[in-house]
Amino acid sequence: MCGIIGYIGGQDAAPILLKGLKKLEYRGYDSAGIAILGAGGLTVRKSRGAIKNLEEKIEAELAGGVLAASMGIGHTRWATHGEPSDVNSHPHTDVSGTIAVVHNGIIENHVRLKAWLQKHGVVFRSETDTEAVAHLIDLHYNGDLLQAVVEAIKRLEGSYALAVISRDDPDRIIAVRKESPLVIGKGGGENFIASDVPALLEYTRDVYYLLDREIAVLYRDKVEFYNGDGQSIEKNVAHVDWDAGAAEKDGYEHFMIKEINEQPKALTGALRARIQADTTDTGQDAQGAMPVKAINLQEIGFDSSWAKANRVVITACGTAWHAAVIGKYAFERYARIGTDVDIASEYRYRNPISNPQDIFIIISQSGETADTLAAMRMAKKSGARVIAITNVVGSTLAREADLVMYTWAGPEIAVASTKAFTTQLMCLYLIALQFGVLRDVLSGEELAQSIKALEDISGQAERILKDKETIQRFAARHFSKSKVFFMGRLFDYAVSLESALKLKEISYTHSEAFAAGELKHGPIALVDESTLVVAICTQTALFEKMESNIKEVKARDAATLVITYEDVNYFDQSADEVFRIPRLPDGLSPMLSIIPCQLYAYYCAVQRGLDPDKPRNLAKSVTVE
Ligand code: F6R
Repeated sequence: MCGIIGYIGGQDAAPILLKGLKKLEYRGYDSAGIAILGAGGLTVRKSRGAIKNLEEKIEAELAGGVLAASMGIGHTRWATHGEPSDVNSHPHTDVSGTIAVVHNGIIENHVRLKAWLQKHGVVFRSETDTEAVAHLIDLHYNGDLLQAVVEAIKRLEGSYALAVISRDDPDRIIAVRKESPLVIGKGGGENFIASDVPALLEYTRDVYYLLDREIAVLYRDKVEFYNGDGQSIEKNVAHVDWDAGAAEKDGYEHFMIKEINEQPKALTGALRARIQADTTDTGQDAQGAMPVKAINLQEIGFDSSWAKANRVVITACGTAWHAAVIGKYAFERYARIGTDVDIASEYRYRNPISNPQDIFIIISQSGETADTLAAMRMAKKSGARVIAITNVVGSTLAREADLVMYTWAGPEIAVASTKAFTTQLMCLYLIALQFGVLRDVLSGEELAQSIKALEDISGQAERILKDKETIQRFAARHFSKSKVFFMGRLFDYAVSLESALKLKEISYTHSEAFAAGELKHGPIALVDESTLVVAICTQTALFEKMESNIKEVKARDAATLVITYEDVNYFDQSADEVFRIPRLPDGLSPMLSIIPCQLYAYYCAVQRGLDPDKPRNLAKSVTVE
């Protein structure tokens, strides 16, 4: 996730900006840059890669006093639009190099804005959405930078935290945010901007939290606040008493629980801009009341030519492979197309039968997993077309695939994957549903119902997270169980696979997943009083079958937890405990039913005194075989 820093005061700005950027490194980034405004005018320096690359680049200038200035803005970039490169790094400037802007977020209407700005003669240098903001502010600039920012943000759609400086309006920095974080630090004779509190703690603990569309204007000796229309407002200062470690994690104890809690936002990010009013229709339904919505994947280039495929093959490793298993069920259900799922490390050593009519979907959070990349290259060699689902812009997978669908989950720091998984699912569902539309096998009614459910999921995930203490209490009672089995049928079986992996990797508990129908074919021999069985029950037509399985394990003294919908009382008699999640169409349930299982794994690890962020023997990105 991008990081923003800003400084105005009496000290040399560049070293403070560099130090602040380092404090924001934990957010993840692929390039860094600063813009300073001093006697020498506006100077921008930026570099791909680590902050030390930037430091090395400006070392001589810093030592020679060339970059002396007492105000400036800085940025660490996590690429979204355009690969990591010097030119795509922030700050971005207008054509004349008068205004400099750093940005965190996504400007969703940047394509339209860019076309409009180009009509006004603007020549773009980068592939970023942010550059449009710099040009837009310049176009509205009429001697007052604040007014230009007010006018510019009226035209921005999407999310943004922005810091802006101008050579023509020196001695102040303008900051504004919508849906991306930004805090203002209040010092004595100096003021600061940062994406997160940790970057400020060395200088001040007095902060202002900007709300959506609020603007801060920072001078050396004061900060003024305005609403999005440019009217003056008052804000209260808050005092931060967290330590630096907690501040990096936004007050959470670990990155993993922070990332679990980020899922509502991440799910919105993966969905947003991919659902639109259907332009092929009148925009009204049969009754003329509701706007008709459609899935729009033109952004990734997924058009009707892809619907001619005979078969889909989904390949990945680990958690991403579990997403693939759910993808198989989704493709069969919504698009009625035969779908094979392969573990990438197996696929690459088999002698698989594939042909140019196949579509491959390759899933990888990092986009760098060695086995996954090898499977992708084999698929491409066979002449098949490849869609990548990944979280990392500019990753090898993103560069080599034919189409890329980004998960937009933001950097995942904890080793155990959580928000990457649920956003991978969101992407798979969108492709599966759109496939169903293009293949003419999905009814308008089911599409409308599914789109509505996808739009509701973020709020429903939030409701589950509000109830996390229930899972925490359950973990406190059962964390010492030596065996934990997850079971379910269809989509619930796939969620069981991911749940068992989460639990084993961070709490070192022996956990397994079973297709519940397989219980009698062997696994039940393991069940005794030292076993916890978590039954995931969201496939309504199979409730009876699941109830029989629950009774079978209870009869062998296992403790049982059922995860089901909030309106289902079916399991109240058979299970020891029932955790309820909001109702949604059965096929889409994995995006919610996994959340209590992630929480369970997290709280078990904490109960066992382990660090869930850094499980033993595991690495975040497996770039070797
Ligand atoms: C588990 C986990 C791993 C990864 C796997 C693939 O929590 O994170 O199983 O899912 O190593 O990684 P990516 O998705 O980066 O290819």
